[in-house]
Amino acid sequence: MASPRSILLSSLLLASSATAQDFGSSGRSEEAFSYIQPENTTILTQYGSSPAVYPSPNITSDGTWASALVKAKDFLSLLTLEEKAYMVTGAPGPCVGNIYPIPRLNFSGLCLQDGPLSIRVADYASVFEAGVTAASSWDRKLLYERAYAMGEEFKGKGAQVALAPVAGPLGRSAYGGRNWEGFAADPYLTGVAMEESIKGFQDAGVQATAKHYIANEQETMRNPEYNDNATLTDVLYEAVSANLDDRTMHELYLWPFANAVRANVASVMCSYQRLNGSYACQNSKALNGLLKEELGFQGYVMSDWGGTHSGVAAIEAGLDMDMPGGIGMYGLYPEAGSFFGGNVTTAVNNGTLDVSRLDDMILRIMTPYYALNQDVDFPSVDESGADLNTFSPRSTWLRDWNFTGEYGRDVRGDHGSIIRRHAAEATILLKNVNNALPLKAPKIIAVFGNDAGDDTQGFLNQVDFEYGTLSAGGGSGTGRLTYLSTPLNAINNRASQDGALVQYWLNNTLIESSEMPALWNPKTPEVCLVFLKTWAEEGADREHLSTDWNGDDVVESVASYCNNTVVITHSSGINTLPWADHENVTAIVAAHYPGQESGNSIVEVLYGDVNPSGRLPYTIAFNGTDYNAPPTTGINSTGVEDWQTWFDEKLEIDYRYFDANNISVRYEFGFGLSYTTFAISDIQAEALVDDITATPEAQATVPGGNPALWESIYNVTVSLNNTGDVCGATVPQLYVTFPDSAPAGTPPYQLRGFEKVTLEAGECQTVSFELMRRDISYWDIISQEWVIPQGDFTISVGHSSRDFEQVTTITPIAA
Ligand code: BGC
Repeated sequence: MASPRSILLSSLLLASSATAQDFGSSGRSEEAFSYIQPENTTILTQYGSSPAVYPSPNITSDGTWASALVKAKDFLSLLTLEEKAYMVTGAPGPCVGNIYPIPRLNFSGLCLQDGPLSIRVADYASVFEAGVTAASSWDRKLLYERAYAMGEEFKGKGAQVALAPVAGPLGRSAYGGRNWEGFAADPYLTGVAMEESIKGFQDAGVQATAKHYIANEQETMRNPEYNDNATLTDVLYEAVSANLDDRTMHELYLWPFANAVRANVASVMCSYQRLNGSYACQNSKALNGLLKEELGFQGYVMSDWGGTHSGVAAIEAGLDMDMPGGIGMYGLYPEAGSFFGGNVTTAVNNGTLDVSRLDDMILRIMTPYYALNQDVDFPSVDESGADLNTFSPRSTWLRDWNFTGEYGRDVRGDHGSIIRRHAAEATILLKNVNNALPLKAPKIIAVFGNDAGDDTQGFLNQVDFEYGTLSAGGGSGTGRLTYLSTPLNAINNRASQDGALVQYWLNNTLIESSEMPALWNPKTPEVCLVFLKTWAEEGADREHLSTDWNGDDVVESVASYCNNTVVITHSSGINTLPWADHENVTAIVAAHYPGQESGNSIVEVLYGDVNPSGRLPYTIAFNGTDYNAPPTTGINSTGVEDWQTWFDEKLEIDYRYFDANNISVRYEFGFGLSYTTFAISDIQAEALVDDITATPEAQATVPGGNPALWESIYNVTVSLNNTGDVCGATVPQLYVTFPDSAPAGTPPYQLRGFEKVTLEAGECQTVSFELMRRDISYWDIISQEWVIPQGDFTISVGHSSRDFEQVTTITPIAA
């Protein structure tokens, strides 16, 4: 094995502009570490440091991908060294990321496209509900169905690789600019969502990419700053370093990626920022150690766009594909070269890089390709995407592309109806008094807010315009709408069935002005529907947790003269809703980013065609300042390495923090109302295995890690009853409280089970939750193992993280 030092030096020889930190340190003083390092442990467990883990593990697939690996080996055996170099290096072309075709081997290349809610650079594609919306459904089937439908669209457009789904950011900070692209501020729920999404994409024949790995929790300073942006040289500041300890890594941030690997995800995208001092795309502990060794990942690691900061150092640390590669960030930075490409050929030729590592990179790239049968009848890239691709326009291409097949294919199918159903089922009812909802065919309706109507400045890519309803956030995670059902249109359509009068005011400044009451005509409406929006986008963190465009003042104003004010939010996530207790605000509905069927889906909920069953995937506190772990937004010094963010809160993010510190919140994690009511009774817990051991049996690693961690060891059942008058769905949730013998810092309650269940009025059903070994273990930093602590666990099942109806105890390991 090459020593880390020699790797470092050789990479510097290869690419002199590389900032090759393959084993990083955040530079924090020893005293600041959260615990004393025991003598017999290695640096592995230290907070804020990243030990070297080499060499990069080879693909070992002998399970589901065995026959694909054989094909990949045959393919590899036919490649020249130059072809190998370009198999691992992106190039300008029709897609957001491209691997060149090799016609002599019948390899059509790889087309990589964003993103998590749509195939973004495409015409005639659907804009699905955002990740945060889908997660609000707490519905495994919905999550699978969404990804499968998206996968069909990626495939139809000729994209082998979908740059989705997102588990980083997880939602450490309420202010994170990209939280909405991911799922929930909880590793368990996000883990389930990752697994279902990956299965959905890959069952549709498209490679999924679990991104952004790892601890990518803020947008501010996610990339380095340069004195010369044209050539990406002369670093002013390195990107922010996310510094966290080993336990937090395992129990929060790595957790959902473990689910992703277990679901056989084809690819993992490493993130932009530094991790414990070393760039995430060249952090050998994260890539070689955690991902490939501990979790047994068999696919390939691709860089985020421009996230590669060295050649051989990154390759040895576990990076398998440089994106977008080619000529750097293409049109953006035309003079910046790739650290891969020709440099890889040189490194192999001069002995700096062993060709066996390059071969493994290619096997990792091609095995999922064959496993998903992408060599057989995969549609060609739709040329219309090339014409829409502003990232690498044709002028930047180095080769011609051979396009075949129809131009501008319509891949939407009947997905509009799926999106409409999903968005309705994911809508969260937060408040409902005086039977305000569902609406009972009101005859006079007033609609307020700049979020209610048509987008007045186009909607090919969502931007934060003043006028128009918000169906998605911004950046690479957005979508290109082909149509948009707005709330106002959908309300008009529905109200016309009742012969109702609909009046509307879309100018927030007017609505909050004193002129407004005089504009009523002919008399007070039966219901005032206020639509508010909150923008978030890639590249920026949120500055506040209020709704945008003076939304809070708009509500206060309408509620001051309308005693049946119903507020609907279209938001990236957390809003603090300071008017929630106003007596005239009779209902509050959080619809997040619902996608193209926004209006139709919200009308179904408002009128009761769909009984809302969404649950919060995060906590709504009373004030923005109640949240811990804000993004690091500034530093007071000028050192190149000085952007550091310390995950000092450790496991205490979102509800774990509020619970541990007994802080009252407005609406807790897991909360959501229905038009009916549910009761939970008769909890039973049964061990599924005899003689449970504290640590898992040592077994050969499979994708996801030690299979013993995924073994179900308890079954908990409850009886669930719809005690109301109408059919509805609900989500019983199971939270685990660890015994006192668990290490300090263990959160009081942790989600470890949930199930979406639909029941007719009066219907009763038994619901089971299987607890896996990982669910009741903590990560022991000393033994580097998942451990079940001794003593009694409390198992609580209820309607949210703070509304438990049934409690029992289990004692897997007697004290
Ligand atoms: C984003 C990725 C995205 C890539 C390609 C990056 O800036 O972080 O999520 O897939 O661009 O558009």
